[in-house]
Amino acid sequence: MIRRPGILITGTNGEIGHGLISALARQTDEHLIGLDIEELDPAFKEYLWESVAGNILDRTILDRLNSQYEFSAIYHLAALLSTRAEFSPATAHQVNVDGTLNLLTMAVDQARTRGQPVKFFFPSSIAVYGLAGLEEKNRIGAISEEQYLFPRTMYGCNKLYCEMLGTYYARHYQQLTAEAGTTRVDFRALRFPGLISAVTAPSGGTSDYAPEMLHAAARGSPYDCFVREDTTMPFMTMPDAIRGILKLMEAPRQSITRLVYNIRAFNPSAARLRERVLADFPKARIGFAVDQARQAMVDSWPSDVDGTAAHNDWDWQPQHDFEAAFAEYLIPGIREQY
Ligand SMILES: NC(=O)c1ccc[n+]([C@@H]2O[C@H](COP(=O)([O-])OP(=O)(O)OC[C@H]3O[C@@H](n4cnc5c(N)ncnc54)[C@H](O)[C@@H]3O)[C@@H](O)[C@H]2O)c1
Repeated sequence: MIRRPGILITGTNGEIGHGLISALARQTDEHLIGLDIEELDPAFKEYLWESVAGNILDRTILDRLNSQYEFSAIYHLAALLSTRAEFSPATAHQVNVDGTLNLLTMAVDQARTRGQPVKFFFPSSIAVYGLAGLEEKNRIGAISEEQYLFPRTMYGCNKLYCEMLGTYYARHYQQLTAEAGTTRVDFRALRFPGLISAVTAPSGGTSDYAPEMLHAAARGSPYDCFVREDTTMPFMTMPDAIRGILKLMEAPRQSITRLVYNIRAFNPSAARLRERVLADFPKARIGFAVDQARQAMVDSWPSDVDGTAAHNDWDWQPQHDFEAAFAEYLIPGIREQY
């Protein structure tokens, strides 16, 4: 059977998935194949050649896709996010780790049969970092990719381990066999900060307080932020996250000096976020009601990351700094929506 060339995207019905498939559809003629446990939002079906509603843990589905398509690239977005993962850690491990292993082994198989590397994008997170607490967080400032890799959440553990699995398949797989060096997964990962979209409201993440505050204000609903006012962590707009993925995946192999990159845009405190939301929605009722467990998670994440490697290697620059994010993207987008 002739296999049809294509690009596989998992987690297509998620926040990043929606943005990524519309962006990829604009820039490639290749067929896009989506896989998500939820039925894809009908508004996004036009971007995909085939949309599969199924579980990344279901081998039958993956085997079928593997035999029908020849993938040049896999964007593996499907995951259980940080807050949700703390409520069901064993399930999170299955989806986030076993699911990623399934996709990586499919990539290896595809690389072997194509005789060419398969590009593999993995969205990691600042949850891979684990700081001892607020004192350390305030003292150290922006941290680089190799520092403080002591995750405190199941989600962070899953992400860090999957970065390592991807690196293994890209660099060391079959090192003891005659096939060494012949099967290649061109693995590339970004450690995203919290992401803010003007279009979709997130669920299940621990950086959700920033987008939730904004969406509640636009809807006219009161909102209690679940972290303290002084809480600071890096954020980025969703369009910048999508641009980051596309840029990293387009970068020539020789300019990539690492397989996993930090990227950053801005890092306001929760109080500064509130102030900026109020500037456009002066009647918004935004209070603070701290959830200690979620606060502890954010206190273990860095207040900023060092994005020098991404900048130097593939010229990463966010389009939106803090003010541009609100003035040019979030406020106009959100006003249109509500
Ligand atoms: N949004 C952020 O702030 C952020 C930050 C860092 C990293 N990430 C990572 O980016 C990726 C996408 O995030 P998102 O914000 O779009 O999340 P999301 O929760 O909006 O989307 C995840 C998608 O995966 C699907 N999914 C979950 N389990 C599945 C399974 N077993 N089989 C098939 N599909 C399944 C869900 O139905 C959902 O549509 C995730 O890997 C996430 O960890 C997101």
